[in-house]
Amino acid sequence: MNLLVTAGPTREPLDPVRYLTNRSSGKMGYALAEAGARSGHRVTLISGPTSLEAPVNVNCIPVETAREMFEATSIHIDRADVAIFAAAVADYRPVSLAENKIKKSEEHLALALVRNPDILGSARSEFGFEGVLVGFAAETEALEENARRKLTDKGCDLVVANLVAQPGIGFDSDHNEVLLVYPDRSEALPLETKVHLAHLIIQAVEEAHNRRG
Ligand code: PMT
Repeated sequence: MNLLVTAGPTREPLDPVRYLTNRSSGKMGYALAEAGARSGHRVTLISGPTSLEAPVNVNCIPVETAREMFEATSIHIDRADVAIFAAAVADYRPVSLAENKIKKSEEHLALALVRNPDILGSARSEFGFEGVLVGFAAETEALEENARRKLTDKGCDLVVANLVAQPGIGFDSDHNEVLLVYPDRSEALPLETKVHLAHLIIQAVEEAHNRRG
């Protein structure tokens, strides 16, 4: 199978020295890319900035912003049988990029933000992707309900849902606890290392791919 994985955070520049980002370390996405390669699949990993080394036998494409990730995905998703979106893409970016470092002046400073493209949401509608589509859902409440909405709205075959407000799992942890949400059922996986969960998710994805024939 040809597997495309997005991973890590995006960085949305504000001025030459500042950016907006989030706490994603890339560990979940890199573990998926590595598990995919170890299972004999051809893997393309589109990664935001992380401190991780690219896994062996994985074609790693570094990007910085959501728009760069969108662009890279639009190019590489064509060849994919399965696309897994584990990246924590910034939903918004600053409206403008200041040419020079923003100086402090008034007591309050308001930032104007604009929506970034929804990469997962574009997979079916804009990129015309017909393979197995796997989204993630990072939630702080109503895990299954919110994940199921994403599954339907974005045309996914599977959404991997995780609670991200609990210490020790989710963002920037070696562990995670996920709920696999399919169109017809859900399956909770136990709290485990991201490396172990990645193998279980790759197995789930292989099964979904085989079911499609
Ligand atoms: O990187 P780690 O430190 O290992 O942490 C792992 C993780 C918590 C980041 C990961 O498990 C996870 O939940 N990734 C998705 C994070 C996220 O942004 O979730 P979301 O519910 O906001 O987005 C839903 C889906 O849409 C995700 O598949 C996301 O990649 C995708 N998305 C979101 C916004 C956007 N503009 N484009 C997208 O493709």
